[in-house]
Amino acid sequence: MSFFEIQNPLKENHDFHGHVSWKCPSNIALIKYWGKRPIQMPANASISFTLDKAYTITSVHYQPRRTSDKWVQFSFEGKEEISFEKRIVKYLSSITDHISWIKQLSFKISSENSFPHSSGIASSASSMGALALCLCDIEEDIFKISDNSLFRKKASYLSRLGSGSACRSLYPQLAAWGTSSIIKNSSDLYAVPIEGIHEVYNNFHDDILIVSDQEKAVSSSAGHALMDTNIFAEKRYDQAEIHMKTLLNSMKNGDLHAFGKIVEDEALTLHALMMCSDPSYILMEPNTLEVIKRIRTFRKSTGLPLFFTLDAGPNIHILYPNHIVPQVTSFINKDLISLSLEGRIIRDQVGQGPTKIA
Ligand code: DP6
Repeated sequence: MSFFEIQNPLKENHDFHGHVSWKCPSNIALIKYWGKRPIQMPANASISFTLDKAYTITSVHYQPRRTSDKWVQFSFEGKEEISFEKRIVKYLSSITDHISWIKQLSFKISSENSFPHSSGIASSASSMGALALCLCDIEEDIFKISDNSLFRKKASYLSRLGSGSACRSLYPQLAAWGTSSIIKNSSDLYAVPIEGIHEVYNNFHDDILIVSDQEKAVSSSAGHALMDTNIFAEKRYDQAEIHMKTLLNSMKNGDLHAFGKIVEDEALTLHALMMCSDPSYILMEPNTLEVIKRIRTFRKSTGLPLFFTLDAGPNIHILYPNHIVPQVTSFINKDLISLSLEGRIIRDQVGQGPTKIA
């Protein structure tokens, strides 16, 4: 059963072919999605800033599938990538109940990221977002559908089935995923855009300080699964709902310090949950903690609204409003950059969501 209207299968001798291309950004969660229920449903509602400079561009050529054709050919940054290709085949096979016509086409998919492969930025959100947008675009093209809000919702739904956090990348600025009493029209099935936020967040900065580019010892998917046996899980899910309310209030009225308190609490809770999982694991590095301490000292001594968050890894997302760029830039250059890996930092900010390229 699909949540969406299923289009009829294509005729045996159809000749649908074409090319679409989408750019989809990554996102950084402010309230974290950590723990899930079958199938790809979040254990709690989450909310994220859509980023701007960290994105994936995916292009898809499609044509009628002949028996001799390979279903999917995938290349990443110009090179054939068999392991990614297998993941895409698995993903497409898993969504045929929702878009059955994909079995009748063959696809040449190519993808590239704006950030280096081992930069510590998870690419699954932007890449699954871009692929889902391409699929929905092809469907629009073939079935002559045109409904922008349904298009985004469906792309969000389909990208969630590839990677949960991806479904939030489909909207400008701020998006929430998961049923919450506080967010009208919220759903576990797809993310929704959040509007009516104070203008200070429109161009908020997120500088990602890379302290390690090593592959994570425990993947996010494995980390989510460990929440099933974490003794703090239920308390955590309750906390997330309370945090959502406080955070949204602070984002409506522009109270930056209330915002920062929740966002930092969320980051540390996420990593605390990893540490008390069974088996326990730690993804932070010594320099992660040192950067956190220095950010807190800077905030205390200057009173400026500079905050951090973390995703499931050791790299630090440094969050601040546009009006303190000069002070933060000099602080980062003087006190933080030496703690990064080879001076690596990705200067990103809140962005306007995906764009169609072709
Ligand atoms: C810590 O979306 O990567 O970044 O659904 O298994 O693909 P899967 O997990 P994923 O988990 C993201 C976890 C997080 C928090 C967040 O983005 O909300």
